[in-house]
Amino acid sequence: MAKIAIVYFSGYGHTAKQAECVQAGALSVPGTTVEMLRIDQEGNLSEGAFEQITAADAVIYGSPTYMGGPAWQFKKFADASSKPWFTQAWKNKLAAGFTTSASTNGDKANTINYFFTFSQQHSQIWIGLGLMPMNAKANSHEDTNWTAGFAGALGISPSDANPDEIRKGDAESARQLGIRVAEFAPRISS
Ligand SMILES: Cc1cc2nc3c(=O)[nH]c(=O)nc-3n(C[C@H](O)[C@H](O)[C@H](O)COP(=O)(O)O)c2cc1C
Repeated sequence: MAKIAIVYFSGYGHTAKQAECVQAGALSVPGTTVEMLRIDQEGNLSEGAFEQITAADAVIYGSPTYMGGPAWQFKKFADASSKPWFTQAWKNKLAAGFTTSASTNGDKANTINYFFTFSQQHSQIWIGLGLMPMNAKANSHEDTNWTAGFAGALGISPSDANPDEIRKGDAESARQLGIRVAEFAPRISS
């Protein structure tokens, strides 16, 4: 049984769509429960969300990449987590992350690297995507990890695409991240 919290911000719905894919993957692993904790436009979580994170076995962080890093709303959440940090309340929980942005590169790695650093401030255990890159001529955005990131699930959401146009490969990569976390979390928490 794994309890997973997905903590994410989304300005225009693309990261929210990715979060739903992570959630679907996690829920496909029997016995898993998922709390979807969306940071609002003011950078706040609903009441009780911090307690839900503290009760979880694993926390998956998500944010769009804005100006080469996580959105400020995510950073506001991160700064607000200094209280559980002080008591290391999230220590030894599994952590993972996902991000999407309009450009192929778009400096998404900075956002994932921020999540990693943030998780280490909380003494969490980082888990990456675990999928080989699909980088041959025959590959396309239909394939998992076609963006070839190992540290987290990445997505490319073209500037004129709506969230429902999420690429099949990005949706499946996010789903696989959810599965991986859900499968590993019970091993860590037992
Ligand atoms: C303020 C702002 C900054 C952005 N900065 C980047 C960036 O650095 N790299 C990039 O590839 N896309 C950038 N974008 C595009 C977004 O990452 C992209 O539209 C993404 O799908 C938004 O996700 P959301 O719908 O969850 O907010 C930026 C968009 C905004 C609004």
